[in-house]
Amino acid sequence: TVEALELGPLDEGEWLRNKRVFLRVDFNVPLDEDGQITDDTRIRAVLPTIQFLIEAGAKLIIGSHLGRPGGKRVESLSLEPAGSRLAELSGYEVLLPEESIGDAPKKLVHDLRVASKTGSQHGTPQLCLLENLRFYPGETADDEEFARALGDLFDVYLNDAFGAVHRKHASVHALPKTKRDRGVGMLVRRELESLGRLVASPTSPYLAIIGGAKVSDKLDVIEALFQRCDVVCIGGAMANTFLAAKGHDMQKSLVEEDKLALARTLIEKAQQQSAELVLPSDVMVAESLDAADGMVVPVSAVPQGTTALDIGPATIERFSQHIAKAQTIFWNGPMGLFESEPFATGTFAVARAMSAAPGFTVVGGGDSAAAVRQAGEEIASRFDHISTGGGASLRFIEGRQLPGIEALRQNTH
Ligand code: 3PG
Repeated sequence: TVEALELGPLDEGEWLRNKRVFLRVDFNVPLDEDGQITDDTRIRAVLPTIQFLIEAGAKLIIGSHLGRPGGKRVESLSLEPAGSRLAELSGYEVLLPEESIGDAPKKLVHDLRVASKTGSQHGTPQLCLLENLRFYPGETADDEEFARALGDLFDVYLNDAFGAVHRKHASVHALPKTKRDRGVGMLVRRELESLGRLVASPTSPYLAIIGGAKVSDKLDVIEALFQRCDVVCIGGAMANTFLAAKGHDMQKSLVEEDKLALARTLIEKAQQQSAELVLPSDVMVAESLDAADGMVVPVSAVPQGTTALDIGPATIERFSQHIAKAQTIFWNGPMGLFESEPFATGTFAVARAMSAAPGFTVVGGGDSAAAVRQAGEEIASRFDHISTGGGASLRFIEGRQLPGIEALRQNTH
């Protein structure tokens, strides 16, 4: 069962000695044009689990996806850079076989050098990192045959890929069901515990701050949050669609015209659920995305030819007041074009206000989590939880089931 396999303290790992353990991780890390990793948070986040398994003497096989190669080999989406970074960070030797199924990886796993029992040195421990699982069409198809072929490599299945647990893909869903011994790693356990507090018994007032580009990506979560939260603050480009639905002329700003009716329905739903919906009262506008600075205007007077690229100071102040009062706060999505310095104020102000808040603070989603880390270690360390999952954390706080977690629970034997 999941419970039985939750990883305990180091001395309880002895049963794993020489067992072939598969660890699903989410090494879907951002790469620049030269294929260099620009943010290795997701690799660092699973190091404790990896270290635990290696020190317990397991033969470790790590599997992940990277990007969306569409079921074929795409060299630029190889996990090689992730493997090198893992070797650097862990000090272990990382072997990356060409093929992820069949006799070759099986032999490689058989021959892996495990850590010695006494800690005495007889060579650096080795682990096997499989190539991008999405190079195989069976991965995204949740194909059972592909899962069985992968399952041939190991005895124990562990999932530490929180960012991917919402995907019904073979290595996340079909594969664990083929093993009796299966469970979660330390990262997934921590994610479930922290995000679980938002679902099970959030202390009131519960505030959600939602941003990002599009309403259409987050309709379900916004609707669910209206039912669960006392206050929902909406910023970022998606706020434009709500403001336009309320009759404001947002000029050149990104507005999803085909979602205006839906935004109106959501505004009504917030009223029915007695959740307070807080939209920006002022925005920072500019004539182009690469402008060197912007101008603060009320949302009722956005000048012709301009685009809203950040929330304004009055809005920051209002959001910050709600943040200071809340007992539970969930944040997903930036408040503006934060990659560009003149339009990063709102996003970093939310990060700062949350870091100083007395409530339980959680941030989820690639961009907003990256913004918190960019704001500096001092700010990031004051968050109660920074989720490694984007879509997965949203699904979870919506209260929806996650295929990767359900597959661990189901009793298939
Ligand atoms: C993520 O980055 O959110 C996860 O790795 C899932 O990636 P995907 O959206 O391509 O399935």
